[in-house]
Amino acid sequence: MKYKSLVSIDDLSTDEILKILDLAEEFEKEPISKLLDGKVVSTLFFEPSTRTRLSFESAISRLGGKILGFADASSSSVSKGETLNDTIRTVSNYCDLIVMRHPVEGSARFASEISNVPVINAGDGANQHPTQTLLDLFSIRKTQGTLDNLNIFLVGDLKYGRTVHSLMMAMSRWKATFNFISPEELRMPDEYKLYLDNLGLKYYEHTDFTDIVSKADIIYMTRVQRERFSDPIEYEKVKNVYVLRNSMLKNTKPNMKILHPLPRVNEINIDVDRNPKAYYFEQALNGVFTRQAILCTLLGIK
Ligand code: CP
Repeated sequence: MKYKSLVSIDDLSTDEILKILDLAEEFEKEPISKLLDGKVVSTLFFEPSTRTRLSFESAISRLGGKILGFADASSSSVSKGETLNDTIRTVSNYCDLIVMRHPVEGSARFASEISNVPVINAGDGANQHPTQTLLDLFSIRKTQGTLDNLNIFLVGDLKYGRTVHSLMMAMSRWKATFNFISPEELRMPDEYKLYLDNLGLKYYEHTDFTDIVSKADIIYMTRVQRERFSDPIEYEKVKNVYVLRNSMLKNTKPNMKILHPLPRVNEINIDVDRNPKAYYFEQALNGVFTRQAILCTLLGIK
């Protein structure tokens, strides 16, 4: 493949994305193999994670690879003042591929430029989360039977939510119509709206979605990203602005699905969990198959 690392979803062509989704379907049918036998993958998590780190580690284990890394940078020499440059230059000598999450936007691109081995961005600040996007695309295609011409509702923290930034960029390739639902303070940043403008795609901005929910093919809920707010009072103002409840789903399309990258805080009431339209836990499972496909693709194994 012509690229070495996966930092932004736009590092992949549409063909490459579709090949990864097809391969993920194969891993869903047959998850256990020895394809990564003899390979070492490093998981460096400078920020907390449950799904991304553990689904990557599950994917590596199911492929017969070995894992080294840390889940908490305080247990690494970063706590002694080591720079990201020195950490990456050192760790890239120990492994075949690095999966990295870091709070600073642009850190994954920086790491990819100095590493001897491919770097997968597992989330860099409020910027991008491309592997989440690939599992979201897998989940959307699996449940809708297509990626084409869907009406996607992105709800919640559209300013700081990296998952919605990557997903919007990806779904624009399949001519989605976007409804952005957020409080004024957390609107989709202009750079992403400009991205759609340049492609001639439609988007609509709302502060409420009760009257239009019947149009949605996918409702993608997001958590308000407390860790990105410098002022806790500003977070308190918006933290509970959207709470999706089962009673709000009565007039939705029969095949509409609710996605959420998780973790959730209050934005989906637990009474939604038993509704067949709730898909977020299956979505998290799809992360294992999709990450198996991503690892094999970047390592040139499949
Ligand atoms: N979706 C996601 O990135 O979850 P984690 O923060 O638990 O990895």
